[in-house]
Amino acid sequence: ESTLGAAAAQHGRYFGVAIAANRLNDSTYASIAAREFNMVTAENEMKIDATEPNRGQFNFTNADRIYNWAVQNGKQVRGHTLAWYSQQPGWMQSLSGSALRQAMIDHINGVMAHYKGKIAQWDVVNEAFADGNSGGRRDSNLERTGSDWIEVAFRTARNADPNAKLCYNDYNIENWNWAKTQGVYRMVKDFKQRGVPIDCVGFQSHFNSGSPYDSNFRTTLSEFAALGVDVAITELDIQGASPNTYAAVVNDCLAVSRCLGITVWGVRDSDSWRSEQTPLLFNNDGSKKQAYTAVLNAL
Ligand code: XIL
Repeated sequence: ESTLGAAAAQHGRYFGVAIAANRLNDSTYASIAAREFNMVTAENEMKIDATEPNRGQFNFTNADRIYNWAVQNGKQVRGHTLAWYSQQPGWMQSLSGSALRQAMIDHINGVMAHYKGKIAQWDVVNEAFADGNSGGRRDSNLERTGSDWIEVAFRTARNADPNAKLCYNDYNIENWNWAKTQGVYRMVKDFKQRGVPIDCVGFQSHFNSGSPYDSNFRTTLSEFAALGVDVAITELDIQGASPNTYAAVVNDCLAVSRCLGITVWGVRDSDSWRSEQTPLLFNNDGSKKQAYTAVLNAL
């Protein structure tokens, strides 16, 4: 196959990309994105501050720009993200307690109603666990509403759109030996045992010198899959874009039957949130990097 999406599809997987609405007018960007990928994530446009800038007033202008572009180009969409400590609008940052809990529920219902039946996977909860060695939850205004906020978010999401796969998404949970990985693993195990509706775990996979790729990533994916959830690589970028590391990540996903697919967090290095790390598959002029060829060959 000659594109990432078509090559992944031969394995029953997808190959996705994060899209920024304001770059879709860039013809180099749009033509690469349209050609190579078959899954789309909005890089920022479906986040809480973008979709509910004022309480109860939803704005889907930029989110729909990406959604409509994706559908017109034959791609599926991952929704990102409904409940998160970051990129909250000011009104939400200033809430607490039962008012914040209700605002979270209303936000999930409002966004999921707009896209009901249209989203393959939703990142219902993003980045709820702490970095470091605790293996526990991250402190946040949402956590302070009570630690059941995550399961409430998932139950709300299931009712709002029963057809979407519901994911928990986080970073630094790729290494099986890390406490954060084990903390999320215990939560997912508990949710499955108690019937909390969770379908998938997203591994952001922002690999860099501080949190490098480790070959035990495959163990992590397998262990989570064995709990009865799908797994996905949701925001892949690799500092320096080592072709071997990119190929290893592809091989890890292909080795785990419940790995749904891979999403890279941008098109060209210049589109990356960490452009100084040159972590992506395309050069700034739109040409393919060695990492691109390594990924295509691994698929
Ligand atoms: C990042 C975007 O790429 C940036 O444009 C934005 O300024 C901040 O957020 N984890 C996530 C993503 O779940 O939403 C983040 O995206 C990167 C880390």
